Amino acid sequence: MSVLDIDLIRSQFPALGSSPDAVFLDNPGGTQTPQMVIDAMTDCLINANANLGGAFHTSRRADDIVSQAHVAMADFVNAKSEREIIFGQNMTTLTFHISRSIGRLFSEGDEIILTNMEHDANVSPWLLMARDHGLVVKYLPFDTSSFEFDLDRLDDLLTDRTKLVCFNHASNMTGTINDAKTVSQKAHAVGALVYVDSVQFAPHGAIDVQDIGCDFLVCSPYKFFGPHMGVLWGREEVLKTLEPYKVRPASDALPDCFETGTLSHESMAGVIATVDYFDWVGRDLADDSYRARYDRFDGRRQHVHAAMEYLTDYEIPLTRQLIDGLVTMPGVKVHGITNSNALSKRVPTISFTAEGHKPRDIAQALGDQHIYVWDGHNYAVEPINHLGLMEGGGVVRVGLAHYNTAEEIDRTLDAIAAHLAA
Ligand SMILES: Cc1ncc(COP(=O)(O)O)c(C=O)c1O
Repeated sequence: MSVLDIDLIRSQFPALGSSPDAVFLDNPGGTQTPQMVIDAMTDCLINANANLGGAFHTSRRADDIVSQAHVAMADFVNAKSEREIIFGQNMTTLTFHISRSIGRLFSEGDEIILTNMEHDANVSPWLLMARDHGLVVKYLPFDTSSFEFDLDRLDDLLTDRTKLVCFNHASNMTGTINDAKTVSQKAHAVGALVYVDSVQFAPHGAIDVQDIGCDFLVCSPYKFFGPHMGVLWGREEVLKTLEPYKVRPASDALPDCFETGTLSHESMAGVIATVDYFDWVGRDLADDSYRARYDRFDGRRQHVHAAMEYLTDYEIPLTRQLIDGLVTMPGVKVHGITNSNALSKRVPTISFTAEGHKPRDIAQALGDQHIYVWDGHNYAVEPINHLGLMEGGGVVRVGLAHYNTAEEIDRTLDAIAAHLAA
């Protein structure tokens, strides 16, 4: 197993150098970007700043960026075709958008299944769709001690009227990684469509939509070192059954028919560079054994998938260090998987509470020392309620990325301990 050259990695991210005292542990809310992403966005704004389809140079360059961004994201999620990649402002907007088309497939009395581990962006769009079409909404609960779903409960909820199952690939609150493949198989067995929220998983794991077997999967490049955008992958055969809500002159072809209005071309240029960043990690930094795990792919697709596993192997010891440090502090409770041997079942998004301390006060004390963490419900209204944490102000959420270091974790643990002892 090769060791990540953390100095080389950190040198790619100008934000880390421009605030040398800052510890960026706010990653579940959004990550810093490598220089190559910033350069690509700047270049687009200087040399390709035009709308699409024109008979002139800058427009042709913009056309190329848009087309290459689809190809890049097809590599990232292992889509069969770039026609399956739909860009939008963010995951929430895309989910509201596609829910309007998906809802037309259903009739009154049909059932959908959500879970209470979700970010609200994978709840509210479906509740409104259900209201508009008279659908029955059921919830798959997670176990409050294991922080996992009991998939036998899913079997109990699925019926021949279940039309859609929506769940997260990884939770932005508990950090649990869910078994997206098994859930997809179970949902398909009753003929339901499957919508996977991969926003929190995407920075920490390789995504293969064909292996998962879902119908839709959403992620947000700004959570994986790219610009502020959302990306929806939809299985082509399923997308073709949907009526796109679009303006009349817009193309009827995939994916254009679902990409309403003018997109942020500079962000799409940034997305290409983001995928190229992972390509560089997987090609030049990871050793052969990581690429060998993905020998069914080649080129950038292989490198990107290898990179995600390589970076995860760097993150896991940091996650262990953080969790082990937290659970030994008096009164501290980590709301997620803490077993040292089960850390591959979670992403490094770690939520905790400390008896007698408001999450906001802890986050503020850390913020005052330039350690950036989140507090509150972070829109994970369902899990925060399920765990009874809303009244106490939610949780403190510390989220690692592969540019964090063991020294940063030590500094953070020391600062938390000092605040709790004060
Ligand atoms: C799990 C999860 N789903 C959805 C979202 C919403 O993403 P976006 O900001 O792209 O709408 C977030 C954002 O934090 C998230 O963590």
